[in-house]
Amino acid sequence: MIEQLQALQERALARLQEVAANEDLARFENWRVEFLGKKGELSTALRAMGSLSAAERPLVGQVVNDVRAALESAYTAAYAQCLAVVQLRQEESEALDVTLAGRTPFVGAEHPLQKVIRRIEEIFVGFGFTVEEGPEVELDYYNFEAMNFPKDHPARDMQDTFFVGPDLLLRTHTSPVQARTMEKRHPQVPVRIIAPGKTYRRDDDDATHSHAFSQVEGLVIDHGVRMSDLKGMLLAFARQMYGENQEVRLRPSFFPFTEPSAELDVRCIYCGGSGCNTCKQTGWIEILGCGMVHPNVLRMGGYDPAQVSGFAFGMGVERVAMLLYQVTDIRQFYLNDLRLLQQFVGLIR
Ligand code: PHE
Repeated sequence: MIEQLQALQERALARLQEVAANEDLARFENWRVEFLGKKGELSTALRAMGSLSAAERPLVGQVVNDVRAALESAYTAAYAQCLAVVQLRQEESEALDVTLAGRTPFVGAEHPLQKVIRRIEEIFVGFGFTVEEGPEVELDYYNFEAMNFPKDHPARDMQDTFFVGPDLLLRTHTSPVQARTMEKRHPQVPVRIIAPGKTYRRDDDDATHSHAFSQVEGLVIDHGVRMSDLKGMLLAFARQMYGENQEVRLRPSFFPFTEPSAELDVRCIYCGGSGCNTCKQTGWIEILGCGMVHPNVLRMGGYDPAQVSGFAFGMGVERVAMLLYQVTDIRQFYLNDLRLLQQFVGLIR
């Protein structure tokens, strides 16, 4: 019996070495159950002691206890060592290499159109203007009627319209914000507002046309406002936007809501006026429509054209942005191509 126990001890220790060599903590538990567990080999040996004589019993009992003590301490030591190895390995695998070069995080940028709108706002706020907004889904009344387009007037065809309902549409310009502002403010003067926003027309998209685009509207109403005030202010704007020596000119035009009406051209900022592809050899580039507010528009807005006068303008933001950033296709502004947009990261103007 004693030899059996000693053989058991040897076998158990040999197995423990194998288990330790595996560096797998789960196997230690299997080993413990197999040799030291309630149904393990040592317990079985202990139970067999019942058949021994009273003289043999304490002797064998002593050996059983010695074997158990030897196995337990071998187990504890081997397990602790293995645990240390496993933990070290895990720590190593989770370690951060702080010397590794970092990845540059993706930084977003303001959309070029938003940049331009912000710049335009800054300039006009500097002139004492405030910023107004109006809805993109607009009533026919504000988009056309109050802007002096009578129903069935052919001038409505100038602006191919997306209709949402019989009297509801996607605004074709930001001019309805003129009417909404007058309705809110009349008969107060002065009125000095700009209104940036999206506008929509049923155009087929190509390099210079987009069904969705942006405008910045401007409206001034006060006593004795004259066309020269309009021209002087637009010149001041153009010089802040494009540079101190920027030249502008007004060209006669037509809009139902202004009289007289004009378009503002800036000297081509690429060729300086000598003629190039961008200005189609004319030396000038159109950036906005403008004029003196039509008496009918003032009246419908609650102002007395005998008492006050005003001017208005509406500029195409994409047009301004294309010139500023040399973007040649208007569709670039809504395609969300990161190769274009990332060029504006960190750019101030
Ligand atoms: N609303 C006109 C357009 O979209 C521009 C404009 C605004 C002209 C204000 C005159 C005065 O074409």
